[in-house]
This record gives sequence, structure tokens and C-alpha cells, in this order.
Amino acid sequence: MADFDVIIIGGGPGGYVCAIRCAQLGLKTACVEGRGSLGGTCLNVGCIPSKALLHATHELHEVHENFEKMGLMGAKVKVDWAKMQSYKQDVIDGNTKGIEFLFKKNKVTYLQGWGSIPAPGQVKVGEEVHSAKSIVIATGSEAASLPGIEIDEQMVVTSTGALSLPKVPKSMVVIGAGVIGLELGSVYRRLGAEVTVVEYLDAITPGMDGEVAKGLQKILAKHGLKFVLGAAVSGVEKTKGKATVKYALRKDESTHEIEAEVVLVATGRKPFTGGLGLEALGVEMLPRGQVKTDSHWATSVPGIYAIGDAIVGPMLAHKAEDEGMAVAEVIAGKHGHVNYDVIPGVIYTTPEVASVGKTEETLKQEGRAYKVGKFSFMGNGRAKAVFQADGFVKILADAATDRILGCHIIGPGAGDMIHEICVAMEFGASAQDVALTCHAHPTYSEAVREAALACGDGAIHA
Ligand code: NAI
Repeated sequence: MADFDVIIIGGGPGGYVCAIRCAQLGLKTACVEGRGSLGGTCLNVGCIPSKALLHATHELHEVHENFEKMGLMGAKVKVDWAKMQSYKQDVIDGNTKGIEFLFKKNKVTYLQGWGSIPAPGQVKVGEEVHSAKSIVIATGSEAASLPGIEIDEQMVVTSTGALSLPKVPKSMVVIGAGVIGLELGSVYRRLGAEVTVVEYLDAITPGMDGEVAKGLQKILAKHGLKFVLGAAVSGVEKTKGKATVKYALRKDESTHEIEAEVVLVATGRKPFTGGLGLEALGVEMLPRGQVKTDSHWATSVPGIYAIGDAIVGPMLAHKAEDEGMAVAEVIAGKHGHVNYDVIPGVIYTTPEVASVGKTEETLKQEGRAYKVGKFSFMGNGRAKAVFQADGFVKILADAATDRILGCHIIGPGAGDMIHEICVAMEFGASAQDVALTCHAHPTYSEAVREAALACGDGAIHA
């Protein structure tokens, strides 16, 4: 008899959620994690710590920009960086310990150490080999650097180093205007650093709705972030106390340099599968380093599954969680499903950006007839009351059937509001369904309803 029904390798959002669901479905489950705490990149060096810093610095921004406007007067707030770091660490610890508690509650065995798969049905952790009927690879991803750039996590950092800098730098160059670059760039800008974002493409946030990307860039520029677009970074040179980023403008190939105390390399992530022994097992891989899976997350080797950042698809914690739950159902002999058409994406800047479904650009490419309902937060009383009237909600609906095809929000609480549209899309709702639903006043969500109204006879407050 095998030691376990399932062993999951990796205790991040994909792995730990999978483990809990497996246990809930009656499977004898173990989860292997080598970093010393559960929660993976997301909880330890990603989503959660960055949200702590984003929250703290957003509050700081409010103090500087808006407190006096509201009649809140008094001495200026000073930043105690060490204290902010320890607040961040408390947030991390609280969350990671929470998962250990959930493991105990659900009777998931936590195997501490780095796991490998010496043979199908076996997982080695340290010197011990455990047997399992099914194995799930949930090993996540790691930062991908660029050729010519050596990461030292001191002066030239990935998101991991950027979350724990020894002090707030006076200047920072961010390479890559994706999610990580803009979130962490915002944090350090609000802390007073000169931040310049250098991006290869001609727009920020690749894959986002074009209008939203432009709107976000304008707002972030107003907050003091500088952007150099259409610029290919070719290397970073370190000298004492500063780093020089070299780039060429794509339009005329002219070469330029820019100096900073710290350089954040945020040019994407790559699957982390080294050390598992996948090559020896003959697990088929894709050219970009992901584990190849079928529609039920099975790899080419029977009994071995893979989910999350280690396979294709957006590298998002919630996508990994959904796959974790779904593959648990499959392993338990049930029906697991993920609707990849309705996976929201959020950037936690101020204002937040959130999107789900198709962008206008993809609808045009597909030649699909669509209509646009747009509503500005300028017409939303609640947003105006809290100085967050920048931004808009945009709903894209099928021109003939009115079915919602996508939604893009830039504005306060966008990351929470988007779920109204996710649920609507799961139910195949029309824009009119949302427009006819009573929305509480005064809420930011009224802007979503107004955008839905704008898909029909028109918004009221526009
Ligand atoms: P990204 O793929 O979002 O953006 C990387 C950017 O770097 C792209 O715009 C790309 O054009 C640019 N770039 C690449 N090579 C370059 C060069 N030589 N010179 C200048 N620019 C260059 O990657 P990012 O921001 O590193 O994030 C990695 C992953 O983590 C993403 O999949 C992201 O979705 C995920 N993530 C999600 C978060 C969220 O959901 N809020 C937060 C943080 C990360």
C-alpha cells in the first residue's frame, strides 16, 4: 500500500489549495515544501508582502496628498523603513502560519524539505522516499532575468530583493512595465524615490486593454513615475554605489544610459522545475520550460500531474488555486474544471486595474461585432468623495446578443469589483442583466452598473 494517495510538491497557492481539497475529498495527502514556510512565492515574497507595502505607501500618499484637503492637519508623517518591514513580515507570518493551521485542521501531512521524483509513484524528501498513487507538481516559477544582467538582490534585484531593500533608495530603474514593475515602482515612488520604468514595448502592461494601459500610464505619470517606452535594455553595469542601465530605443536604435541606486528587473518569470528529476522520468516539457499537461492536468507520465506557474497560462496565484482544486477533483475520480475564459487579472496600484475576458484589441482581431459601455468615475459620487475619480469602467458586450465578453476597470477597488462581472460571465449574462440589478448607493460598484447601462440606452450620470 502506498504511504499516501497524493503527494503535492510545492506549498504555494496551487499546491496548498490542492492539498486541502484532496484531503477534503477523503484522500490521504502530503504536501512537500522546501522554503521553510508554506504559501510559496505569493505569501512569502510576492503578492502578500507587496500588498502590505502597497497599502502602507498608499496611506502615506493619502497623508501627503489628501489629508489637509479633508481638514486633517498636523505634523508630517515620517517613514520608519525598519518598522514598515517588520509590519510586512508580520503580515507574511500571519498568513503562512494560517496555512499550517489549515493543514492540521484538514489532516494534510506537511513534509518539510525539497522534493524530487526518483520514479513514478515516489517522492524523495531529504533522505526519505515516500510512495504515492498520484503526484502533483506545483513548484511555481522564479524571476527570469535578461542576458547581460547579473542579479545580486542588493543593487540589481528581482521582486524578492525589492521587497526587502536595506533602505529606501533615492533612485530606482525598473526594467519592464508589467505587473511587478508597476506595483513595486509605485511603492518606491510613494516612498520618495525617483523611479524610471524602462519598457521594451510601446505601451505598459502588455495584454491589457489599450485604453486602460494608456489611462494607467497617465495616472502613474501624474504620481511621478517616469516612463521610457520602446526601449530594449541590453545590460546593467555596476560601479560603486550605483548601477547604469543601458538601453536602445527601438525606433532609431539610438543607445542611452540611465543611472540609479537600485535596478529592479521585472521582465517576467519562468517555470521552476529544476531538481525534480523530470528529465530522467521522461516528463514531456514545452519549449518555454513549462511541464506539458493535457486538459486534466496529467503530464506524459501516468500518475504525475502539474498545475500553476509550472504549466502554461497566466502566472497568477488564483489560476493556480483553481487548477489545484480541479486536479484534486480529477484525482478523486470526480469532474474538475477551470474556465480559462473567466480568469480576472488585477494590478494593485492606486488606482487599481482589473480586467476579465476579451479586450477590444482581441475582439477586433477576431473580427467580432461588439459594443462598448463606458462610465467614468467622475460620475461616481463615492469615488469623488475620496479623491479617486480618475479612471473608468468599460464593458464589452456582443453587438447582437448583448452577452458580456469582457470588462476592464481602472479605479478604486477595481480588483474587488471585477468579480461581479466574473460571476455574470460565468452565468452567460448580458450587459442588461447587470444594468437591471439594483446596486447600493453610494458605492464604486454603481460605476459597473452605469457601464452596463451604457451598453444599452445610456448611463444616467454620464
Ligand atoms: P510581465 O510579463 O507582466 O512584464 C514584463 C515586462 O518586461 C513586459 O512588459 C516586457 O515587454 C518587458 N521586457 C522584457 N524584456 C525587456 C527588455 N529587455 N527591456 C525592457 N523591457 C523588457 O512580468 P512581471 O511584471 O515580471 O511579472 C511576472 C509574472 O508575475 C506575471 O505573469 C504577472 O502576472 C505575475 N504577477 C502578478 C501580480 C498580480 O496579479 N497582481 C503581481 C506580480 C506578479
